Amino acid sequence: MRLATAEDMRSYGARLAAKLRPGDLLVLSGPLGAGKTTLVQGIAEGLKVRGPITSPTFVIARVHPSLRQGPPLVHVDAYRLGGDLEVDDLDLDASLEESVTVVEWGEGLVEGLADDRLEIHIDRETGDEARLVTLRGVGTRWADTPSDPVEG
Ligand SMILES: Nc1ncnc2c1ncn2[C@@H]1O[C@H](COP(=O)(O)OP(=O)(O)OP(=O)(O)O)[C@@H](O)[C@H]1O
Ligand SMILES: [Mg+2]
Repeated sequence: MRLATAEDMRSYGARLAAKLRPGDLLVLSGPLGAGKTTLVQGIAEGLKVRGPITSPTFVIARVHPSLRQGPPLVHVDAYRLGGDLEVDDLDLDASLEESVTVVEWGEGLVEGLADDRLEIHIDRETGDEARLVTLRGVGTRWADTPSDPVEG
């Protein structure tokens, strides 16, 4: 998917949220400033959880409770984590089942949390603001997911 603006990224996230359910794990990758947090803002909007979604300097994981009856959003920024041990310290497995868990910079760190995950890679395009989003589902949960679960 090619998303031209930050607003497009947010609305993509909001539409993706409609496909999510408790227990889902999303692993976001892409360079600094790619738009990972922007995508999470859209997912939060779609899930109707309490905001704001920010990229705080010191807080690594935040729980955003639902404003309705839906699942909470657990937003993790693993950028500052050093290794497996620290991921374990976050106790994400305790909240995984009943939450939608989205991890920025989680590649290579959180795969052990669940057999199923949706990997989302965001890349910048040189020359303009557009971002390229690539999704890859792993495990039975995502087995029937088209390459674009939002449109497909
Ligand atoms: N098409 C686009 N999609 C997403 N963000 C965009 C787009 N165009 C411009 N932006 C801007 O790029 C920035 C993306 O920042 P964001 O914090 O979401 O990135 P990030 O991947 O989370 O960075 P970090 O690696 O530091 O966590 C925002 O300021 C956003 O407004
Ligand atoms: Mg971020």
